Amino acid sequence: MVNETAQKLRGGYYTPSDLATFIARWIGGKNPERVLEPSCGDGAFFAAIGLVGGFSGAEIVGFELDKAEAAKARETAKRASVSAKVHAQDFLAWALTNLENPDAQFDAVLGNPPFIRYQYLPADFQARAEQVFSKLGCKFTKHTNAWVPFIMASIAMLRPGGRLAMVVPSELIHVMHAQSLRTYLGQECRRLVVVDPEEIWFSDTLQGAVILLAEKRDTPSGKADGLGIYSVRSREFTKLDPEKVFAAPQAINGKTVAGKWTRAFLDASTRDLFDELLEHPRVFRFKDIADVDVGIVTGANKFFLVADEVVERFGLHEWAHPMFGRSEHCPGVIYDDAQHNVRKGNPTNFLWFPEGTRLKTRSAQKYIALGESQDLHTRYKTRIRRTWYSVPSVYKTEIGMLKRAHDIPRLILNRAGAYTTDTAYRIRSKDVDAETLVAAFINPLTALSAELEGRHYGGGVLELVPSEIEQMVIPIPMDAQPDVEDLDKAIRTLPTEQLLRAYGGRWLSMLGVNARKSDQLFEGWSSLKNRRQRTGGAAEPDA
Ligand SMILES: C[S@@+](CC[C@H](N)C(=O)[O-])C[C@H]1O[C@@H](n2cnc3c(N)ncnc32)[C@H](O)[C@@H]1O
Repeated sequence: MVNETAQKLRGGYYTPSDLATFIARWIGGKNPERVLEPSCGDGAFFAAIGLVGGFSGAEIVGFELDKAEAAKARETAKRASVSAKVHAQDFLAWALTNLENPDAQFDAVLGNPPFIRYQYLPADFQARAEQVFSKLGCKFTKHTNAWVPFIMASIAMLRPGGRLAMVVPSELIHVMHAQSLRTYLGQECRRLVVVDPEEIWFSDTLQGAVILLAEKRDTPSGKADGLGIYSVRSREFTKLDPEKVFAAPQAINGKTVAGKWTRAFLDASTRDLFDELLEHPRVFRFKDIADVDVGIVTGANKFFLVADEVVERFGLHEWAHPMFGRSEHCPGVIYDDAQHNVRKGNPTNFLWFPEGTRLKTRSAQKYIALGESQDLHTRYKTRIRRTWYSVPSVYKTEIGMLKRAHDIPRLILNRAGAYTTDTAYRIRSKDVDAETLVAAFINPLTALSAELEGRHYGGGVLELVPSEIEQMVIPIPMDAQPDVEDLDKAIRTLPTEQLLRAYGGRWLSMLGVNARKSDQLFEGWSSLKNRRQRTGGAAEPDA
């Protein structure tokens, strides 16, 4: 267990031989003279280099922070008859002093950088990670992860026309914190190919991984192909000619490379259809028709969200309000008194003691004392309040939206006037009535936009943060007269696929989108959704 944690903290998961060999073959194809392995572990890539041709006479430089692992890497290189100079030191520190030194440039970089959240890096490593961003003119965020500055610095140290091939977390494609890196790769590289597997290669980490093959531009303004995706079902691809794999996918440029790379998983005609519909006068970005705000942050859900029994026992009726916050609290699109009552016995009450509340009864005072006996008043979120048990920013909206969704996100009509906690967002429609907005969310175009904007983690659940919701695409037909009762029933009973095809297809047809186009959007959504649910992602969310 101790070892497992130490391994996790240094991001020490090593690359299997078949993947390392495939990468080494692609790099060796260009007969590089100077090669970098920035985080070499016990030397998996040196062993691979020993197995393939193309590296004779090359100067091979490795870095590895862990001294014992660095020693193992030297041994591995020796056994593989590869002459490698392994430095047992921080790669980023070295890179920072050499980024502008043309003599330190490499013809190729290969490896598998460490996966360590920024918050877990020691302070001096954090500072160096941040310096890499600023030296390269990339926007920094504390949500970053060690692999991001590792790839940035590696690309920066590559000579024009040089190649980088690495095993990288599949979240490269969609997490917001990697946007600077995606932009940087788009600027610097002539062609980028992501080898995207169906399976999880590092099953013990729960971390989906892909192979990134990148070729740097010859000149800063040189012509670029953009990004291509090469999807693979098994490890059979490792036997193919890597040069052919690199050349195979049709690459796309422009806004696909500039934003999240999820768009690259769609075929060209679906991308064009999506873009064409963005121009439709009745298709809106969410931010143009509604506002989204986070839910109520209690700071201690077990204390503030309680069942009726607790309200009774402590006589808290005056402060108890209905609340919902999870998908099982509302399987449809209407949260009304009937739906609220279905949940009886569960924590359906939100306890709100507004600032200045006088706790008149002994039993209410006892309840607060109970919270203090559990040290709830010392938590960060509660101790920064004037009165620790007075939750701020309490208001409710006509519409709620759950943060996470299995298949498609949905809006919930809050007819019970319930509060929502931070597992849900508070939505206010600006122009159209709430019913129309709720109904307009269920269609293949909006579902596809959610896949393009959102992110996913372990288990493949889709999550959207407010800035991503704002970019979602919503069709609002001219004289829409939605029957939300009917939709509520349909959502509770039909499989998502059927709901999107039938209900969503009808909705889109009111905008003049024909069945063929509707189907195409559906297929696009379905392929992204299946990929998400298959490959999972990082175990914990970032913001
Ligand atoms: C994911 S492992 C990959 C190892 C090897 N490249 C492979 O593919 O088998 C990442 C390695 O990076 C090392 N590491 C972490 N931080 C580092 C740093 N700042 N400089 C150099 N190596 C580092 C870890 O000790 C770990 O061995």
